[in-house]
Amino acid sequence: MSNYHIKNLEEYYQVYRKSVRFPEVFWEEIAEEHFQWYKRWDKVLEWDFTKPEVKWFQGAKLNITENCLDRHLRIRGDKTAILFEPNNPDEPSQHITYKQLHARVNKMANVLKSEGIQKGDRVCIYLPMIPELAFAILACARIGAIHSVVFAGFSSTALATRINDCDCKLVITSDGSYRGSKTIDLKGIVDEALEKCPNVSSVLVVNRIDSKIEMKEGRDKWLQPLLDEAFDECTPEVMDAEDPLFILYTSGSTGKPKGMVHTTAGYMVYTAYTFKNIFQYREQDIYWCTADIGWITGHSYIVYGPLANGATSVMFEGVPSYPDFGRFWEIVDKHKVTQFYTAPTAIRALAKEGVEHIEKFDLSSLKVLGTVGEPINEEAWHWYDDNIGKKKSPIVDTWWQTETGGVMISPIPFATPTKPTYATLPFPGIQPALMDENGSEIHGNQVDGRLCIKFPWPSMARTIWGNHERYRDTYFSAFQNKYFTGDGALRDEVGYYRITGRVDDVIIVSGHNLGTAPIEDAINEHPAVAESAIVGYPHDIKGNALYGYVTLKETGEYRNQDNLRKEINQLITEMIGPIAKLDKIQFTAGLPKTRSGKIMRRILRKIASGETTNLGDTSTLLNPEVVQEIMDNVLK
Ligand code: WTA
Repeated sequence: MSNYHIKNLEEYYQVYRKSVRFPEVFWEEIAEEHFQWYKRWDKVLEWDFTKPEVKWFQGAKLNITENCLDRHLRIRGDKTAILFEPNNPDEPSQHITYKQLHARVNKMANVLKSEGIQKGDRVCIYLPMIPELAFAILACARIGAIHSVVFAGFSSTALATRINDCDCKLVITSDGSYRGSKTIDLKGIVDEALEKCPNVSSVLVVNRIDSKIEMKEGRDKWLQPLLDEAFDECTPEVMDAEDPLFILYTSGSTGKPKGMVHTTAGYMVYTAYTFKNIFQYREQDIYWCTADIGWITGHSYIVYGPLANGATSVMFEGVPSYPDFGRFWEIVDKHKVTQFYTAPTAIRALAKEGVEHIEKFDLSSLKVLGTVGEPINEEAWHWYDDNIGKKKSPIVDTWWQTETGGVMISPIPFATPTKPTYATLPFPGIQPALMDENGSEIHGNQVDGRLCIKFPWPSMARTIWGNHERYRDTYFSAFQNKYFTGDGALRDEVGYYRITGRVDDVIIVSGHNLGTAPIEDAINEHPAVAESAIVGYPHDIKGNALYGYVTLKETGEYRNQDNLRKEINQLITEMIGPIAKLDKIQFTAGLPKTRSGKIMRRILRKIASGETTNLGDTSTLLNPEVVQEIMDNVLK
């Protein structure tokens, strides 16, 4: 018995203890009993956090799509694998069975092969939330190509950076996308990006919105005719356990995004195991995660985790507000959704709209509610519990990261008693540690510190694409022999964890991680700008909003500050995407700096949050006089 499915608290503690005392035995049993391997591993784990190097299931051979698709065909071939709900509620939903999904993935895999894509090649996927996005991901995995999904809200500049960073050969996109009442010209964005990407030789285009687009001769092809011609069987490529499965970019403390590399076997085992337990998934359930597959949540908990368990996973193309704020609940009712997983920002936005949007629908199918992406505030937690779960469905507040691949700290529903705003207990196999500023571990309960993980887990990212040194510096240098998460956390009297937020230069806005550096880089491109600093301040719906302090060159040309604000936000939209636009921009004579020239963000953060006293020690500033000027002109 491998304890794959934990059902009560006692069992959790038992399993957890085993996972810490005998991690290799623990993971080996799970891997052995629940997955298909072409060849068994020679060694379960090899690790060294100083290099850092982590290898799980070394020597094993597998294909993740065999585990997500083929093995289900015999027992649940006609079961719905992907339940697609389109943007427009009048368009029919699609129930794509395991058999159909298998055939479509195989066809797409054959198309990729005929385009010359081989094992190890990188393929960029820039698609809206349509079934082809899932097919494309799995098709890459089928043939051993490494997918790099770029969220379709990123700008052409951001897309080009990501395509070039990992040297993608091929891009899969669509003519456009639907987003509520709007359409977005995705192909136009790709065309613009590719002007800067000389190594992309082909572009496959899904027809989603029937728009007239330009097809570049020799480079661009419509996907459908190729799929129609393709054979629906493609022998899965035999992959090593540690072969890269995908790259997914996340923001960092420099302007360049970090291409986190996830490998095959450990990622599969961990996402499947966590999915099963966090959602207490059972065969007849209809599971829905509202994330976009462009983020890690969608990779792990719309595609790989659910499919590895043979689940039905809902994929929603639209937005919570279209055609009105009842859309989520209408979908829950329509498909009798049993597990619902969303982000605090969505919960807050929906809570603001009032309960009349909920009351029209029957939500009694729901059993488990999930939240992810940022700390959930107490009010939102209770609103979710009262109005959506009707106090019957446990809320799983799942803490994890792009880098961790799967959920790390979370209640197990019906086993772990929940506590509002607490992610509660570490998953089996996860060994958290809270660290003080001197680098020592803080033991005991009722303490807070910087959150680290002191032992490897199967789905941890193995490196940053093309820059292992940056991987080491970012995650393994702050605290010796530990993975540093970048988050602060506290541990309460019973050992429950509460994540308090980022302690680095990443700001989470509406659940999206935004690095301050790339935004500042974009602003500084403006000819009138001398310098800028971005900080976050609390916002009712987004969690954090962005406040920019900008100093101008003395050009005298830019007297109209409102136009300048628009131009700055336009630049950010072009270089990163609309998600990174600033909510407030204050023009200042200078920025507070230390004697070594570092901007004191701590002070700027307090001012933006409305604090005027208690700014902390300003005596070490090079230019303390600017602080008063900034406070006098702060934007409310
Ligand atoms: C934050 C998303 C509090 C955290 C899966 C983390 C959370 C960052 C939670 C990773 C949570 C995620 N409670 N904070 N339940 N979940 N975070 O890479 O700061 O997009 O480091 O991965 O989101 O964001 P990412």
